[in-house]
Amino acid sequence: MGTSWNPGVYQRYAIERSRPFFELVQRVRHEAPARIVDLGCGTGVQTATLAERWPDAQITGIDSSADMVDKQPKDLPSNVSVVQGDIAEFDASGIDVVISNAALQWVPVHRDLVRRWAEQIDVGSTLAWQVPGNFDAPSHVLMREMADSAEFSPFLAGVLRGGDSVDTAQQYASEMIAAGLTVDAWETTYIHVLPGVDPVLNWVRGTGLRPVLDALDDEQRGRFEEQYAAKLRAAYPSTPEGTLFPFRRIFVVARKS
Ligand SMILES: C[S@@+](CC[C@H](N)C(=O)[O-])C[C@H]1O[C@@H](n2cnc3c(N)ncnc32)[C@H](O)[C@@H]1O
Repeated sequence: MGTSWNPGVYQRYAIERSRPFFELVQRVRHEAPARIVDLGCGTGVQTATLAERWPDAQITGIDSSADMVDKQPKDLPSNVSVVQGDIAEFDASGIDVVISNAALQWVPVHRDLVRRWAEQIDVGSTLAWQVPGNFDAPSHVLMREMADSAEFSPFLAGVLRGGDSVDTAQQYASEMIAAGLTVDAWETTYIHVLPGVDPVLNWVRGTGLRPVLDALDDEQRGRFEEQYAAKLRAAYPSTPEGTLFPFRRIFVVARKS
């Protein structure tokens, strides 16, 4: 069974989560693509915005979560569709722009996939993806420490992946250059200032903590979250202006020229 998704919880930080999508897409230099695919598109809210820049393209968002796909906007532009599907089965042949924002880290074989897509696309086409580079941040280190503890490891063995979930920007760039593509890769650390109580817990509840929440029952989940929240409060102290939450992200835009 795959990870469960809760679109409401995920979209709680919609502004912070969507910014990298726009910063990624801005770097795609394609004037008139005919076919665009957004892999791991979630509900497709961001996918729909691609129609403003490329009104004549056929734009498809693909996501494996029925919960996400079911919450797709009712007023999608006529050239945009959002469908259920698995990134691992995607064939990039004939696609002019492939975009993936904050999704490939969930797909362990994505390094092989991007190499395959690089072969499949035509000259002039672009692969553009963003993945979080925060697996060694306190939020994730503390999560893994708790999952490995005597109390929780019997239920959580193997559910969390570590820093090997993603490569560095340099590794991705080298792979794409080796595949013959021209690369624009970079990383950014956003300093999110999050309001409210336990905002980092609320943030990861929408993404990285989901495999843990799926694996525990209600009572275990309550205990895990209580202890984890206390550790997060110490690692990310609250200030009158909010909680500062540094979040590193890795971007790759690779074009076949
Ligand atoms: C963090 S969300 C990102 C959603 C959207 N791209 C955004 O930027 O807000 C990750 C998405 O990847 C999807 N996903 C994870 N593994 C997938 C797979 N193998 N195939 C398709 N979608 C997948 C999840 O269902 C989820 O909607």
